[in-house]
Amino acid sequence: MFAKTTRAIFFLLGAAAITGTQASAAQPWMNMSLSPDARADLVQAQLTQDEELTLVHGYMGINATWRRFKPIPDAILKMLPGSAGYVPGIPRLGIPALAESDASLGVANGRHMRPGDTATALASSILTTASWNTDLAYAGGAMIGLESRQKGFNVLLAGGIDLAREPRGGRTFEYAGEDPLLAGVMVGEAIRGIQAQHIISTTKHYAVNAQETARTVMSADITEAAMRESDLLAFEIAIEHGNPGAVMCSYNRVNKVYACENDFLLNQVLKQDWGYKGFVLSDWGAVHSTVDSAVNGLDQESAFSFDQADYFGDALKQALADGTVPASRLHDMVHRILRTMFAKGLFDYPMVKQPIDEVADGAVAQRVAEEGIVLLKNDHNLLPLAITTPKPLRIAVIGGNADLGVYSGGGSSQVIPVGNKPSQEILVGGEVVHIAGQPIRLPLDKMVLDPPAPLDAIRAEAPHAQVSFDNGEDAAQAAALAGKSDVVIVFATQWMREGVDVYDLSLLGHQNALIEAVAAANPNTIVVLETGGPVLMPWLDKVGAVVEAWYPGNNGAVALARILFGEVDPSGRLPITFPVAESQLPRPIITGKNPNGSIIATVGTPTVYDVIYNEDANVGYKWFEDQKLTPLFPFGFGLSYTNFAYSGLTASGGKTVSVAFDIQNTGTREGKTTAQVYVKPPYGVARLVGWSKVDLQPGETHHVTLTADPRLLAFFDTDNNVWNVPEGDYTVELGTSATAITATATAHLQTSTIKP
Ligand code: BGC
Repeated sequence: MFAKTTRAIFFLLGAAAITGTQASAAQPWMNMSLSPDARADLVQAQLTQDEELTLVHGYMGINATWRRFKPIPDAILKMLPGSAGYVPGIPRLGIPALAESDASLGVANGRHMRPGDTATALASSILTTASWNTDLAYAGGAMIGLESRQKGFNVLLAGGIDLAREPRGGRTFEYAGEDPLLAGVMVGEAIRGIQAQHIISTTKHYAVNAQETARTVMSADITEAAMRESDLLAFEIAIEHGNPGAVMCSYNRVNKVYACENDFLLNQVLKQDWGYKGFVLSDWGAVHSTVDSAVNGLDQESAFSFDQADYFGDALKQALADGTVPASRLHDMVHRILRTMFAKGLFDYPMVKQPIDEVADGAVAQRVAEEGIVLLKNDHNLLPLAITTPKPLRIAVIGGNADLGVYSGGGSSQVIPVGNKPSQEILVGGEVVHIAGQPIRLPLDKMVLDPPAPLDAIRAEAPHAQVSFDNGEDAAQAAALAGKSDVVIVFATQWMREGVDVYDLSLLGHQNALIEAVAAANPNTIVVLETGGPVLMPWLDKVGAVVEAWYPGNNGAVALARILFGEVDPSGRLPITFPVAESQLPRPIITGKNPNGSIIATVGTPTVYDVIYNEDANVGYKWFEDQKLTPLFPFGFGLSYTNFAYSGLTASGGKTVSVAFDIQNTGTREGKTTAQVYVKPPYGVARLVGWSKVDLQPGETHHVTLTADPRLLAFFDTDNNVWNVPEGDYTVELGTSATAITATATAHLQTSTIKP
């Protein structure tokens, strides 16, 4: 929204429209000049009730032997083997099937469901968000949308946006951080990019699905106003920007009611207040009823074999027969699905399978990584490293499987990356770790590393350097290599995956000790973090530089090497607060867990898992301000290799806040920065209302103007179902992070109300 365009990006759609002239008298709905609603009405009028029921009931494209999985008929399996979800079409009317794949980070293929099918692995969503570059979010979305179409999937289960209320949450890497505006805009742009390829994207998991611990039973307990001002606002903004065809309701309960049968979330907020015209599909196994789900707003049961029963199969037919679900509701479900399929181009741009363009797509992934990697510390300009030196630079690369690839997050979003080799898949877990003095056995799983390996990328970037590698298993041996080197790059990792939260924010195993040992042997130590979210850094004072590389995807290691050697200015800024310790979090221990990290065992009503979000809308940096806590690294933080000065801040009020200011590159090299504007209402904490990411040559100045969306300044009034902007003086803060404010101004606002 506020990012300065750096480069225009064009994609071949790889698809030609079936033109309106092909609309025959027999299929008048193929007339593209009609509205999606009119086209849906025309085709829907031809459907029998059984055909309507077909469209609201999904399968999974694999047969599994795990859980309570009910076998998938062969006829269905043959249609799209190895897909996350499949909803048969109606061939006699030319209604295409919905072929669904995960997810936000590329076309997923977890557990090699489709043997040999690799896709370009985009960086984790948290990295894309850290770029604060809307064009890149769009480009990444367009790239994975194109690959999705080329592989035969017309629905991408993308758009994860649950706010990081729990930084230990196992899907923090898959989401977009802690701020509703930043997350909403960036995820919305990614969705817009995906759907530009004439496929449907979801946004998920609606709503307040912030932790994996007990995710299928826990209740997210939170006031309506707080939810509207935080998590729901993120969805609202993403939907406005990206207009996703579908919304995936989540596993958890919200205020004790399952999200997929939650009248408040689905009917009142999404469909009525926001006027959402797309359809609601369930997360895999998130349906718990027939009548309640149907009446309260669920439009399609995904992969029913995951649910306890086949709720939208025969049971829905029976409910229609006995009138407990009105026929008008089934018509509405089907209308929403069909009008979305028309609106997004599924009828008009049929998919033609073709190979992906690995080079072009890899270049997009690299560009995203180049802007989302964050430089957190750089004492005495240790970075960038010189590519050419009088004597070959002796570089020690240590730890983190840096000889194999870069980390990626696990779970349904798992991409098998382009260039994948068996050696890049590592069986992890099984070992016993001690948390709070108690032994815990880590579950077994397979971790996938994305190529190329950082070691190879560093060697390619600095061909004259003398680069040695040590796997870091023996800290003393690694320290000996460090002592004989000019500079040390030590890789530290945290693996996150869906379904389990991380135990705590500490680097696992002996990684902290390894960093301490290496830094003691050589102060020119650069720590590269490959983590899903924040981690604690007890060694921070002892190392020279820290780079947060997240999970940077295919070519992420190339992006990292280009940053380390200064070919690219680091321009990522944190989309999530890094705490000093877990004690700073609203919940020092994840609700539902024992202090030793194991999940509390329960029988009967699982209220022990219910999370009371009494930090309200104060997620992340807002919580830190409210509690007067100083984080390790604040939201919005990140360094560059050049310097910027901000000047001339002016602000005006009225119905909302508008600001203007200048940014100048005062350094000696080209670089990018993200100016951030926060506004503090007359009461409460400051909120991000806009930003501008600029790319400036030395000496160059850019003039920025921003106007805040008034909802970002408002409080939600649940009695009257409106946003209220109270009259008063609002403090405008211009800064380089949530806590580094370089200038302030005041704007006076009149009272106003805004309808949701
Ligand atoms: C995840 C969803 C995913 C679905 C299909 C679920 O377990 O929560 O995000 O889209 O599986 O793979």
